[in-house]
Amino acid sequence: MNKEIKYKLLTYGCQMNDYDSEVISSLVESTGAYPVEKPEDADIIIFNTCCVRESADNKVYGRLGQYKILKKENPNLLIVVAGCLAEKDGEKMIKKFPQVDLVVGPRNAYRIVSLIEQAKKKKIVCLNQDDAVFLNPLSRSGNITGYIPVSVGCDCFCTYCIVPYVRGRLKSRPAGEIVAEAERLVKQGFGEIFLLGQNVNSYGFDLPGKPTFAELLEKINGIDGIRRIRFVSPHPKDFHPDLIKAVGKLENVCKSVHLPMQSGSNRILKLMNRKYDREQYLKIIHGLRKEVPEIALSTDIIVGFPGETNEDFEETLDIVRDVQFDLAFMFAYSPRDGTAAAKIPDQVPHDEKMNHLYRLIEMQNDISRAKNEKFVGQVLECLVESLSKKDPTKLTGRTERNRVVNFTGDKSLIGEFVNVKLTSAFTWGWIGEMAEGG
Ligand code: SAH
Ligand code: SF4
Ligand code: F3S
Repeated sequence: MNKEIKYKLLTYGCQMNDYDSEVISSLVESTGAYPVEKPEDADIIIFNTCCVRESADNKVYGRLGQYKILKKENPNLLIVVAGCLAEKDGEKMIKKFPQVDLVVGPRNAYRIVSLIEQAKKKKIVCLNQDDAVFLNPLSRSGNITGYIPVSVGCDCFCTYCIVPYVRGRLKSRPAGEIVAEAERLVKQGFGEIFLLGQNVNSYGFDLPGKPTFAELLEKINGIDGIRRIRFVSPHPKDFHPDLIKAVGKLENVCKSVHLPMQSGSNRILKLMNRKYDREQYLKIIHGLRKEVPEIALSTDIIVGFPGETNEDFEETLDIVRDVQFDLAFMFAYSPRDGTAAAKIPDQVPHDEKMNHLYRLIEMQNDISRAKNEKFVGQVLECLVESLSKKDPTKLTGRTERNRVVNFTGDKSLIGEFVNVKLTSAFTWGWIGEMAEGG
């Protein structure tokens, strides 16, 4: 590549993909290439994709279809598909979309520069050949939230989930490397360190001495000048009492936990291979609330898993009513080829799934708004992230509770911690105003 090369990177999916995109862009830019806003101005278009649900596949395939015309207009344009959908569909991707030049799975993304060179001569498909490599981005896109993967891959094989097939087996990263990167980011002024893993709290069992995730948190908590530590996604089966204690006692760990529940029915949890039941899940929730009474809790829920009956769904509604999550990400079950659940003959009809999903969303939205209402009038510290997307005359800050607050303020405050008085509540967060001395 050379200095005139322009590229456009489109990122889909979870925070792990946001992180991988930082690695990809820093590698591509290290050759002198630079990013452009419009895909039609680019010499290379890179998709970093997700395939967790069918809707994620469709987003990418829809765009790829649109970009066929760009390839006609500029035969030198290179189209790269990276990420989880690349790993899932591999060769099929090029057969279906001949405009694609390079297909590269997540474990090979660190080789993207040499693969792009090869793809200029012939089409390349590069899938899961290598062991996972941990690479820090050579440069980061901002200096507010610093993502650091503590592990890659997943061994859980929840029966609905494609992730273990596309991200491979769990591999933890040595603690020293994680702490060193966190220290470097804190020195650079990052306000928030965000630890990532498909199953972040199964960290360490594959490493010598079997360090635990709670021990890792303790080390990171001790870094000089660190302000906020977050992590996703913990798995309930590995959320042991030492981790509950660590969240409570480590002062820089945000008092906000995202704990995917998936279902409130023990029968469905078993069919999902989640390895916990609702009683064990509730025990963790109560343990966390005992340590930190005001802790913010969020979750993921799947509606319409094969064989889910009205009674199973009612049990999910019950537990949602009981727990009173601050926030939930709620999904209609989407069959993924190759997973065990996709083979179950008893699939729930689409209309029933959607009907249940809307009922759940309605219930949770009311809970989220009511929980946020309770904070109106309080002053919360927030880390200012950007101009508000809804109203660019305002700033958007994130509270420790991981909910956003929009307020009027100067854009020089982006990246700073400020105190904001919450004046009105919504399902998504609050509107507020800067507090005295904020
Ligand atoms: N590793 C994380 C996140 C996995 S994907 C974890 O275990 O929590 C994020 C969420 O997508 C999951 O928590 C689940 O709720 C949802 N999800 C995964 N596969 C799905 C599928 N096939 N259909 C619908 N939702 C799914
Ligand atoms: Fe998927 Fe389960 Fe692994 Fe999460 S823990 S990535 S839901 S298999
Ligand atoms: Fe999607 Fe891959 Fe993340 S499937 S949710 S981008 S791990």
